[in-house]
Amino acid sequence: MKIMDGKALATKLQAELAEKTEKLRDEHGVTPGLLVILVGEDSASQVYVRNKERSALAAGFKSQVVRLPETVTEVELLEMISTYNQDPTWHGILVQLPLPKHIDEEKVLLAIDPGKDVDGFHPTNMGKLWSGHPVMVPSTPAGIMELFKAYGVELAGKRALVIGRSNIVGKPMAQLLMDANATVTIGHSRTQYLPALARQADILVVAIGQAKFVTKDFVKEGAVVVDVGMNRDDNGKLCGDVDFDSVAGVASLITPVPGGVGPMTITMLMEQTYQAALRSIS
Ligand code: GUN
Repeated sequence: MKIMDGKALATKLQAELAEKTEKLRDEHGVTPGLLVILVGEDSASQVYVRNKERSALAAGFKSQVVRLPETVTEVELLEMISTYNQDPTWHGILVQLPLPKHIDEEKVLLAIDPGKDVDGFHPTNMGKLWSGHPVMVPSTPAGIMELFKAYGVELAGKRALVIGRSNIVGKPMAQLLMDANATVTIGHSRTQYLPALARQADILVVAIGQAKFVTKDFVKEGAVVVDVGMNRDDNGKLCGDVDFDSVAGVASLITPVPGGVGPMTITMLMEQTYQAALRSIS
């Protein structure tokens, strides 16, 4: 078993990104700008947003986090997005999810200019991805594809099972794997005989949101296992959706939690922002 070290790969890509950013500024006078809107006090979101800001500043971007109270109205939030859409200094705009219940998430995602939607959650960008012409791709699956590339994981003709069907991870992951000529199945919490189905997979991507859900009973000898989960176990320790100790003896390659998919997600968000800035000059 070998570890797919997302932290090391992210560090390397971040350094390359900082160099590209400096060049863009020197040659075209453009500094990529990432604007993040955070509504309310969700503790996980606060950590994610802080990490995004840190990463943007490390890459040499202009970065701002707009922190709004839980009580902000939907209209106020939509008006704010409209203002930032028109400001050319922001190449990437994202609204951290989840939003408070009184705000319609779909309306908010629709309000972001698709050209600035660095999360890739706008239906226009989702449609472009599904039609085989991706522009803005959700960061987590994009980061996983980079891990596959860096570790020489062959995808063409392989059987891939994605466990989880969210718009953020499962669905775009399946599409990217299909684009890479894998034969893809999407499983989820209601799939029957999931362990038996999983045991047929050469590539297993797990994003089901349940601590240590995937044990070695799910994994074929030599399979590649990617863990998107971020949970706490019974002792309060950070863990993924995969029971690492049980699966590590069976898989040929596996991502750890932390230090696997997480750092790659943030790095791909920065890359997406850089690409949006690059498009703005042409
Ligand atoms: N909440 C959890 N993951 C994400 C993400 O990738 N983007 C945004 N905007 N919110 C999230």
